[in-house]
Amino acid sequence: MSDSPKKIIVELEDQLSSGTYYKRNIMLVRGQGAHLWDESGMKFIDCVGGQGSANLGHRNPYVNQAIQDQADKLIVCNELFYHEERANLLKRLFQLTPVGIERFFLCNSGSEAIEGAIKFARLATGRQQIIATMRGFHGKSLGALSATWNKTFRQPFEPLVPGFTHIPFNNSTKLREIITDQTAAFLVEVIQGEGGVRLASAEFLKVAKQRCEETGALLIVDEVQTGFGRTGKMFALEHFDLSPDILCLAKSMGGGLPIGAIGINQAVASQIFKLAHTSTFGGNPLACAAANAAIRYLEEFQLCERAKELGSNFIQKLKSFQLAKVREVRGLGLMVGVELKEKSGPYIQKLLQKGVLALAAGPTLIRYLPPLVIEQEDLDKVADITAEVLQ
Ligand SMILES: Cc1ncc(COP(=O)(O)O)c(C=O)c1O
Repeated sequence: MSDSPKKIIVELEDQLSSGTYYKRNIMLVRGQGAHLWDESGMKFIDCVGGQGSANLGHRNPYVNQAIQDQADKLIVCNELFYHEERANLLKRLFQLTPVGIERFFLCNSGSEAIEGAIKFARLATGRQQIIATMRGFHGKSLGALSATWNKTFRQPFEPLVPGFTHIPFNNSTKLREIITDQTAAFLVEVIQGEGGVRLASAEFLKVAKQRCEETGALLIVDEVQTGFGRTGKMFALEHFDLSPDILCLAKSMGGGLPIGAIGINQAVASQIFKLAHTSTFGGNPLACAAANAAIRYLEEFQLCERAKELGSNFIQKLKSFQLAKVREVRGLGLMVGVELKEKSGPYIQKLLQKGVLALAAGPTLIRYLPPLVIEQEDLDKVADITAEVLQ
């Protein structure tokens, strides 16, 4: 008997891909909104959400149409030349991001946004030291990895970029001490994603801003995972009225297409010289068109408000079960974590068998990052199935 198409594909990927990923034994063939289907027709509720890159949902009509229209006209247009979709995207980013963020470098991923932010911070301050946080995650390219905390990812690749120090997240006293006039930047996530859905305290962020202002260090906020509506605001820093000097964006920015951005203030921009940082694909028309459509959809369908309301219902419902295996339910908007008293892996597998795709974030957390277009009914189902598997 001949092998099934799935078996052949799984074998090919297992033999030929680098081997750096853990894979689940599912072959996806189609998506719609917050639903995914495998080759056998099994339907899943998607709470992986492309690890935060699918806020707009699968087969989003605005994003799909924009990609088709742009692909029909022009895909390649480096920043050697001007392009309308890029100009429009820059304008929208300028309008949406906090006051003070005035210029943008367009790139292709979260790690790249962090890489550029580190370079711009060093360039603008003439200083080398970057402070980051324990449990922080900023990507795995060498510069970004130097800011990422997890030693499993770091140690095999040392020496990393020099000048990086990590302090405990939410420790304002340590933060006050460590930021000095030698510091180029403090880099922080408003909610740590990979680190386990952990919210920064208002006090910690206030001290960060204050201390950066006092010492001339720059505040870099990493909104790669929290941006574009995920937490119930366009950007999570709006919950704290926080204005950074540099803002890193990616993941859902392009409605699923690879694109990222580094927002910078005028002081940083004034130090940038020609060719200080470049990217062949950065600002390409296809990704810019997708991003413009994604932002338009987010606004027209009020996905931030939707994330806020649905997220709050979901957290409430999860808490109401009062499950013995659960240590804590936490999150903001539709960035939700269920911290267990034991390893979460087996429960994530059980969820999958019952048609719910969820993520880990650390050994004991189940993390949910559904597309913000998810229906209340589906989210209720996810909560009920979670309760069932954790009984
Ligand atoms: C907060 C944060 N920063 C940076 C990154 C790196 O992004 P990418 O995987 O697109 O390089 C991630 C990825 O998960 C992230 O969550």
